[in-house]
Amino acid sequence: MNIVFEEKKESFWIDTKDTTYVIGLADGAYVGHVYYGKKLPATGRDTFDTAGALRILEMPFSPKEKPGEKVNFLDGFPAEFPFGGVGDYRESAVEITGKNGFTACEFLYDSYEVSREKPKLAGLPQTFGEESLTLTLCLKDKVLGATLYLKYTIFEDSDAIVRSACLKNDSDEDIFIDKLYSAGLDLDDADYEMLSFYGYWTKERCIERKPLRHGRQSVNSTRGITGHQSQPFIALVSPETTQKQGDVYAMHLIYSGNHIAQAELTAFDQVRLSIGISSERFRWKLAPGEQFQTPEAVVLYTGDGLGGMTRELHDLYKNHLIRSPYLHRERPVLINNWEATYFDFDEEKLLSIAREAKDCGIEMLVMDDGWFGHRDADDSSLGDWTVYEKKLPHGLKGLADKVNEIGLKFGIWMEPEMISPDSELYREHPDYALAIPGRAPSLSRNQLVLDLSRPEVVECVWRQIEAVISSANIAYVKWDMNRPLADLGSMVTRADRAGEIAHRYMLGVYELQERLVTRFPELLLENCAGGGSRFDPGMLYYCPQIWCSDDTDALERLAIQEGTAMLFPLSTIGAHVSICPNHITGRTTPWCMRGNVALAGTFGYELDITKLSSKEKEEIRRQIKTYHDCQELIREGDYYRIASETETGTHDCVQVVSRDKKESLVLYVQTRAIPNGRSRRLNLQGLDPDTVYDVTISIAGREFGEEDVENTSVHSGGELMEMGLSVPAMEGDGRPVRIVMRKN
Ligand code: DGJ
Repeated sequence: MNIVFEEKKESFWIDTKDTTYVIGLADGAYVGHVYYGKKLPATGRDTFDTAGALRILEMPFSPKEKPGEKVNFLDGFPAEFPFGGVGDYRESAVEITGKNGFTACEFLYDSYEVSREKPKLAGLPQTFGEESLTLTLCLKDKVLGATLYLKYTIFEDSDAIVRSACLKNDSDEDIFIDKLYSAGLDLDDADYEMLSFYGYWTKERCIERKPLRHGRQSVNSTRGITGHQSQPFIALVSPETTQKQGDVYAMHLIYSGNHIAQAELTAFDQVRLSIGISSERFRWKLAPGEQFQTPEAVVLYTGDGLGGMTRELHDLYKNHLIRSPYLHRERPVLINNWEATYFDFDEEKLLSIAREAKDCGIEMLVMDDGWFGHRDADDSSLGDWTVYEKKLPHGLKGLADKVNEIGLKFGIWMEPEMISPDSELYREHPDYALAIPGRAPSLSRNQLVLDLSRPEVVECVWRQIEAVISSANIAYVKWDMNRPLADLGSMVTRADRAGEIAHRYMLGVYELQERLVTRFPELLLENCAGGGSRFDPGMLYYCPQIWCSDDTDALERLAIQEGTAMLFPLSTIGAHVSICPNHITGRTTPWCMRGNVALAGTFGYELDITKLSSKEKEEIRRQIKTYHDCQELIREGDYYRIASETETGTHDCVQVVSRDKKESLVLYVQTRAIPNGRSRRLNLQGLDPDTVYDVTISIAGREFGEEDVENTSVHSGGELMEMGLSVPAMEGDGRPVRIVMRKN
């Protein structure tokens, strides 16, 4: 890891483990992007062709050489952080309206600094780490009187570059930020394909990979939340890229609200990647002396294919983003009553679930939606976080104590960001809901969104959360958020601050979660948003796990978890076994398949255990034993995708390998039996080729309750990876196979 300034070539060299990133100056003023890719040697930097990469020796030449062609120069210049309005017509990363109402800006190089201590970003989720270096480039627009700080942080053990921007108003008049992204990256095209995610409720994080076309193509959210529909992520991949090899340039935003991630291909085959807070409905007033800090963006290059990208991101998030003490702890196997009862429960029902759960080896009961106010459906009580005595006559403490006596931990559901029109809070403070004065705010799931852009609303919500959690022995909170923001208006916000509401809302959410994890450091926090609508790096700063999707159908989950695991560690993915026919799809999948799929996540149950047969409860005991046997490897190991159900249509396969490569686990599911089929070879990954492994293949029985059939054999890692391991053809759909490899 190193960051140096090469004076002769006026260039900044950022070296990570295996990559080099070079920034250069044209005319000593224009900050341009020179190189990003495989690591370059430290020699030859003073003869490096910086000028060639910046295209300052070719027509239209740099402004110093040909001032008459400045527009043409800027329009093709590979900018490090493009500004708009003076000649670069591609997507800009910064737009400002000055005091005279005009919008152009031109930020030119002023100075730089390299520090060993990573600067803290107030109020935002952010990466951290002792062994880091940060380059800060200082750029100035003298006409606006504004300073732009571009920050680049690298960590000793990572190839990621964490970037952000900060704008300071040094003038004596207000200015308005219309756009400030976190990062841009200009590259020459190499027939790249764009990889991104899309989805909807019950179908989150579908992977999409399409050739880049000329023009702009983006994914974005203006919902005030990451959204089921989008992920603040974009990657360019070369056409031959697979899981195992190929170039990938990726960007992932550490943020949970409105965002854009965009690729723009010009007629001259230059590509511009951009990522940041969406400029739609965004306008931030910067008074003299004030500054605005963007969220961080993870920027990553790897030549090791999509699998290489995935493992780099997983490591970065585990080592430098997730702070929870549960990150490396075994998580309790939980049972959640949502799919068991929905709103129809009382203390006795929950205790009966707890008793049966305890008997099966489950370790925590989570009481979901419906325990507060007078909530019997989704049309009331959000905002009133007092116990619904009709359901829980002995209060939260009474219930928690009884659950603890049974031998289970106790967790609860909350949705702190919301307010129901039918609530005491709304009757007392209708102004606490987001609304545009004069317009009736739009309902979604019968609820409104609290105006968390206001500090007094944040304070009111915090007092309620703190009171609830202090009132009983609560070990876990599922923090839900069930609708997007709309009606971005506030009863107190002035017109010149109206464009700040969505981002201030996010800062309010972050403030609440920060207070929560600081005040209750041992609390296990699981984020959730109508399923997996806010599964993003921002939330991971506060919690170690996020509910992945309301679709618990094991077949559907294969694709949802595949997309999620492409970016996020398995230890963060909330995955539960639920009852069949599945409540979302109506599909029936075998118990053993449901158990196998949920293993590749945090593991738990989402069903009425009191209604199960003794054979089914026996199956749960077996599954929990397997979870205990495998959880450490799944939580701590390196993740490899061997086969994808969405591509094969017949089977799915993931593998985890311990860091020391002595142990590995493969979770395989035959989703569709092939008539008269043959065995299938699995080319495993990540093993040590020279290590000899004892391999145990456990094939689930065809009939429910049948014992697994186990085969053992011995193979070298090289054989398992190059020739592959044979998995026999099986009758039946939804047959899982578990393969355990241990150093012989
Ligand atoms: C959406 C969540 O994803 C569900 O698991 C459940 O908690 C409901 N909300 C409750 O309203």
